Amino acid sequence: MNYRGPYRVRATQKSVPCIEHPCDAIIRVNRACICGSDLHLYHGLVPDTRVVTTFGHEFTGVVEEVGASVEKLKVGDQVLVPFNVFCGACHFCQCELYSNCHNVNPEASAVGAIYGYSHTTGGYDGGQAEYVRVPMADVGPPVILADLDLDDAVLLADSYPTGYQAAEMGDIEEGETVVVFGAGPVGIFAAKSAWLLGAGRVIVVEHVDYRLEFVKNFAQCETVNFKEVDDMALHIKKMTDWMGADVCIDAVGCEAAGNFAPSLTGIKLTLQGGAATVLHWCINSVRKGGKVSIVGVYGPTFNAIPIGNAVYKGLTLRMNLASECQAPPAPADRAHPGRPHQAQRGHHAPHAVRGSGRRVPPVLQQARQLHQDGARAAACNGFNLKEATDMDTLNSPPANTLEKTPEKTPEVPARFAHIRGWGADLDHAMRPAYPMERMPARRLAAHAVAAGFQVEMVTVHRVVVRAQHAVEKPAGASMRIAQHQRFGSRG
Ligand SMILES: NC(=O)c1ccc[n+]([C@@H]2O[C@H](COP(=O)([O-])OP(=O)(O)OC[C@H]3O[C@@H](n4cnc5c(N)ncnc54)[C@H](O)[C@@H]3O)[C@@H](O)[C@H]2O)c1
Ligand SMILES: [Zn+2]
Ligand SMILES: [Zn+2]
Repeated sequence: MNYRGPYRVRATQKSVPCIEHPCDAIIRVNRACICGSDLHLYHGLVPDTRVVTTFGHEFTGVVEEVGASVEKLKVGDQVLVPFNVFCGACHFCQCELYSNCHNVNPEASAVGAIYGYSHTTGGYDGGQAEYVRVPMADVGPPVILADLDLDDAVLLADSYPTGYQAAEMGDIEEGETVVVFGAGPVGIFAAKSAWLLGAGRVIVVEHVDYRLEFVKNFAQCETVNFKEVDDMALHIKKMTDWMGADVCIDAVGCEAAGNFAPSLTGIKLTLQGGAATVLHWCINSVRKGGKVSIVGVYGPTFNAIPIGNAVYKGLTLRMNLASECQAPPAPADRAHPGRPHQAQRGHHAPHAVRGSGRRVPPVLQQARQLHQDGARAAACNGFNLKEATDMDTLNSPPANTLEKTPEKTPEVPARFAHIRGWGADLDHAMRPAYPMERMPARRLAAHAVAAGFQVEMVTVHRVVVRAQHAVEKPAGASMRIAQHQRFGSRG
């Protein structure tokens, strides 16, 4: 399946790849998925995607041939191939940053290498083919355990570990509220994994109805259809007692819908590395000191994002391509259920007992369930379907977290109209009984004018006024203004 230019792929005959290096293996593919990331390629949004490159970075197969130096794999082994190509030996691989491997991509100042994902990520042919060359075969693909279904195993090549890592990078503490943007396979697994890692409440934001319905049942979460919401940050704040979410996860990336301006500049005109709508929503919806985890893919250029808000709010931003699916088996005392080796063997449970007192079943059981349900997730994209079973027993959230979400957010004040849809961080304007010293400067200025002062200057933090004796001031107004001047204001 190879690339012919934006919105064009074609199935063609190519020669069977051969061993080019003693560490190579040739894999005969028996399962291959189409990822949300493939859509970015298909839509022509990934730089240096060359015509005739074969797509596909999520696949399983049978080892057909091995190079002279390959020791761990033998002909006939069933393997799942993690989506990154990596060496296992460089500084970054040693730091478990397999997706940032330094040895596999001549352009590797940032990204490492990915099968079937453009020459920006190394130019390796991918697995939507009958055969693939797999370099460094000893460090990448684990052998699939005999009792693991291939339909389940292929989900370990990318979507499940990526969703899991998204939740893991959110550094979720027991009981925290996690908002996942996107209910594709990655978002679905992120939501499920959030429960696994101790979340007390999980909310998924999406606009495709059947995906909302699916994730609500599969991940036992609350859902928000963003088409019905005027301002995302405001909506999430309303749902969280005006605090904001503890953790926001971007599982959407560069092709986010929901706001015209970034879609125009990021997707249609490619003036930035995709539409950063969800980055805005994450940064603005998370609480002060909160955590934003980004696995959604963006172009390598730049994006206009509210980095100032992130600074002022003291956020922790974590992001990467997933390395969890490449990782070798971790030492016995470390819990990495997102990694194929452990997900397959089920040695560890990340939280033996959750806050609610329910026991978390062994990881193999969790992984099975995730994978089985994941097959249904895959069905969202029209893939090979597999019926999930027994999916409502695990990790049901406490009943009180399933309250109905408010139907409608309050009207956004006109002065914020220009940022409507960006999910502007409006809590300073909208929070009821907001502390006086934090009143935004522009609102303060309006008070000052109403109170008979002449406003000389309004900056982000300060309002400079001059008294106008001709106008009668309401009692107390000058005191309030003085107070604001002393404390400054936020926003
Ligand atoms: N970091 C990694 O290693 C890694 C691995 C796999 C996929 N990804 C990326 O993760 C993202 C999701 O992958 P996927 O396979 O689930 O893709 P997908 O296309 O199946 O799912 C994305 C979902 O986001 C929804 N969406 C669009 N705009 C939205 C918005 N503003 N708010 C909320 N939801 C919105 C879409 O309707 C869609 O259902 C993609 O960007 C993909 O490239 C990253
Ligand atoms: Zn993928
Ligand atoms: Zn490396």
